[in-house]
Amino acid sequence: MAEPVLDIRSLKKSFGAVVATDGVSLDLREGEIHALIGPNGAGKSTLIHQIAGTIRPDSGEIRFLGQDIGTLGVAERARLGLGRTFQVSSLAHEFSALRNVMLAVQGSQGSSFRFFRPVMDDASLKEPAMAALERVGLANRAGIPAAELSHGERRQLEIAIALALGSRAFLLDEPMAGMGPEGSQALTAFLDGLRQEAPILLVEHDMEAVFALADRISVLVYGRVIATGSVEEIRNNPTVREAYLGEPA
Ligand SMILES: Nc1ncnc2c1ncn2[C@@H]1O[C@H](COP(=O)(O)OP(=O)(O)O)[C@@H](O)[C@H]1O
Ligand SMILES: [Mg+2]
Repeated sequence: MAEPVLDIRSLKKSFGAVVATDGVSLDLREGEIHALIGPNGAGKSTLIHQIAGTIRPDSGEIRFLGQDIGTLGVAERARLGLGRTFQVSSLAHEFSALRNVMLAVQGSQGSSFRFFRPVMDDASLKEPAMAALERVGLANRAGIPAAELSHGERRQLEIAIALALGSRAFLLDEPMAGMGPEGSQALTAFLDGLRQEAPILLVEHDMEAVFALADRISVLVYGRVIATGSVEEIRNNPTVREAYLGEPA
């Protein structure tokens, strides 16, 4: 079998007496959505932070595309293609969807003589930005200010930015949060296709979305993975039902 895109081995992280990540091993393979579920405080966000590089693990290994990325900073990991959307959006709301993507692409290229030329006239920014909007189905919304996009469309725009920056895997921490049922359904349909672009590690509380999308599910409880398996395996796992789904075993 091909090497996983992302491979986490024996990761540990404590905050004082709280063991937030207690020897977590899991991987993410090309083309899949791997959902990470578990009760509040289980350590899901802490795990995502360690993969993205915003929190340093105490021990363990994080391999991405065959490389140990444990000592790299957030920006270096992003440059290698680790894409992340943030709970707090980093979009410029007054600017159009297209301009947001173009500015991100420009920012990633570092300083140059570009500022002599208006950003919006720069074909070397505009073409990859439009291509990214097309890949997420937002091409027809390119001229709309980010502020006027729906909640779900803003998530799609953030993902377009990640794609334009060359993301090879996505880390999504509760992308459905704050959405109504219609928004969740639209985002579910979108994520369903997105796995073709790059595999997704998906932290999500919306179990309907998780069961509809996940190729595999890992269940995290008190910083430990208590089970990994298909939707059917997880739904029928008595330990999981007791510990998380709130049903007697
Ligand atoms: N920066 C921090 N400092 C201290 N404790 C933290 C910090 N971040 C998370 N924790 C603790 O680690 C545990 C896991 O939290 P978190 O990863 O946010 O869980 P989840 O995302 O699954 O709800 C919790 O007990 C939380 O209180
Ligand atoms: Mg969380």
